[in-house]
Amino acid sequence: MCGIVGFIGDRQAAPIILEGLTRLEYRGYDSAGIAVRDGDSPMEIVKAKGRLKVLFEKTNGGNSLSGNCGIGHTRWATHGEPSEVNAHPHYSDDYSVVAVHNGIIENYQELKEKLIKKGYKFYSGTDTEVAVKLIHYYYNKYFGNPIDAINRSMVRIRGSYALAVMFKDYPDEIYVARKDSPMIIGIENGEAYFASDVPAILKYTRNVYYIGNLESARLQKGSVTFYNIDGEEIQKEITEIKWDAEAAEKAGFEHFMMKEIHEQPKAVSDTINSLVSDGRINLDNVGLSDEVIKNISQIYIVACGSAYHVGVTAQYVIEDLTRIPVRVEIASEFRYRKPLLDKNGLVIIISQSGETADSLAALREAKNLGVRTLGIVNVVGSSIAREADDVLYTLAGPEIAVATTKAYSAQLIACYALAIHFAKVREQIDDNEYKNLIDELLTLPDKISKVLDDKERIQWFASKFANAKDVFFIGRGIDYSISLEGSLKMKEISYIHSEAYAAGELKHGTISLIEDGTLVIGVLTQQDLYEKTLSNMVEVKSRGAYLMGITNYGNYNIEDTVDFTVYIPKTDKHFTASLAVVPLQLMGYYISVARGLDVDKPRNLAKSVTVE
Ligand code: F6R
Repeated sequence: MCGIVGFIGDRQAAPIILEGLTRLEYRGYDSAGIAVRDGDSPMEIVKAKGRLKVLFEKTNGGNSLSGNCGIGHTRWATHGEPSEVNAHPHYSDDYSVVAVHNGIIENYQELKEKLIKKGYKFYSGTDTEVAVKLIHYYYNKYFGNPIDAINRSMVRIRGSYALAVMFKDYPDEIYVARKDSPMIIGIENGEAYFASDVPAILKYTRNVYYIGNLESARLQKGSVTFYNIDGEEIQKEITEIKWDAEAAEKAGFEHFMMKEIHEQPKAVSDTINSLVSDGRINLDNVGLSDEVIKNISQIYIVACGSAYHVGVTAQYVIEDLTRIPVRVEIASEFRYRKPLLDKNGLVIIISQSGETADSLAALREAKNLGVRTLGIVNVVGSSIAREADDVLYTLAGPEIAVATTKAYSAQLIACYALAIHFAKVREQIDDNEYKNLIDELLTLPDKISKVLDDKERIQWFASKFANAKDVFFIGRGIDYSISLEGSLKMKEISYIHSEAYAAGELKHGTISLIEDGTLVIGVLTQQDLYEKTLSNMVEVKSRGAYLMGITNYGNYNIEDTVDFTVYIPKTDKHFTASLAVVPLQLMGYYISVARGLDVDKPRNLAKSVTVE
């Protein structure tokens, strides 16, 4: 997820573009860049690694760049580590085509190989450079027609993109195209703008066009012409934006957390698409060979907080599918307990930020002990990603809210993919089971969207418990791991005391805490454990508890026992955490809102814990 902005008009472009990029920094912040040109003079390109302020300093707030036409980019790395060379804009070797891009080009390797055969050379590790050189190739082939070149490239590119391109031969023009990545175009008083999101240009115009999938457009001073994929001109209606800038940044949601909860289908589907191709799990980019996988004697999963909870789920999933013993540990404990690791073991470190101090120290400890390490990381080029022997990236995009939601969901997918792949390589599942698991994996984004459709009911229920003193979460097996995450979400953003218990463990002490009206949330997605957990719910009900249940569609007899039920779509038993966690995230969120708390920045917490 990156942010792009561009401008053509009579004013200087660079300060306007930089100002727009600051409004998009929430979309990515590992590097940034800008290209500006003055009439038909050559394009000037400046890039900087790090936050946008570095680019501001390098260009004196944009004042060192002269020109009234330009494009800019703030990056969240997905292909190629954060660095100046990988920062956008990217360019053809003769600088005749310069572009910025937001999105992921899935078949960039294949396109790159074809372009190399045609004599192209590559200076970066990015998929965007491939897109630029593909456009350059078609531009020369189609006699210098930008729209034809872009349309031909769109036919060849698989994935998502919002692209903006400047051609040396066409001063005072910017060409844009999009598929599945956001982009808007604004026109005002002889000026034209484009951006990935409304806040970037809201200061200058409220009149925007939405460009459709597989459409392109030519921007000139004060005008825009739209084209379909066949290069035919099409007409578009202008829309007036009525939101304020802050609401726009959150895409109309009140908080980043809610926006990110809604981004989960995309985070999950992007992560699946990066790991599954042609119906098979493809871990070529990760680096674990079949031989290594066959020799793994033991898996150790090490992480903190929600990432640790992903590990607890993964322990059940990986052990069940692969029959490899798995041990999951809190990083701050692992690093100091002088772990005894098997030399054929694999240590998996899970971390959104890739910078969590305890997880990083655990990784280093495992490496010192000579054991192979794999990082499951969201931030490209982060310390854990750089230092682990192998890395599997989740594609959740930048997460702004302190309480993780979409990164957690993407981490689950990474673990499922490892489990299925390892199980196949070790011949624990046959072709049929392998296919069924992958087919089911591909349905998860739609099923998560379906769970989100139930949010108003959850909001209503949550509002009744805004003043609760204690909340308990119970479940067995994978349902216990989901309970751990539900409980953490509740306490960290609503400040209500909460605990998660293995349902069978309650009567060994905790049940004495149940009073009249205490809310107990049961997670019952594992069909073979359903009756057992239901009995535990009856036990707490008879001590006065008020019950909420989360279970699969079809288990309607739960309503004989519990007071409020959320049903989730049926899925393979290994994947239920991906669905059942959503109502629990929503519960924490709505209770926090009802209590008037700072949902996105809960007290005493930081997004990335880089101290012990
Ligand atoms: C809770 C939360 C934290 C993180 C933990 C690890 O909502 O976000 O518990 O999961 O601090 O952070 P990463 O994944 O960056 O290592």
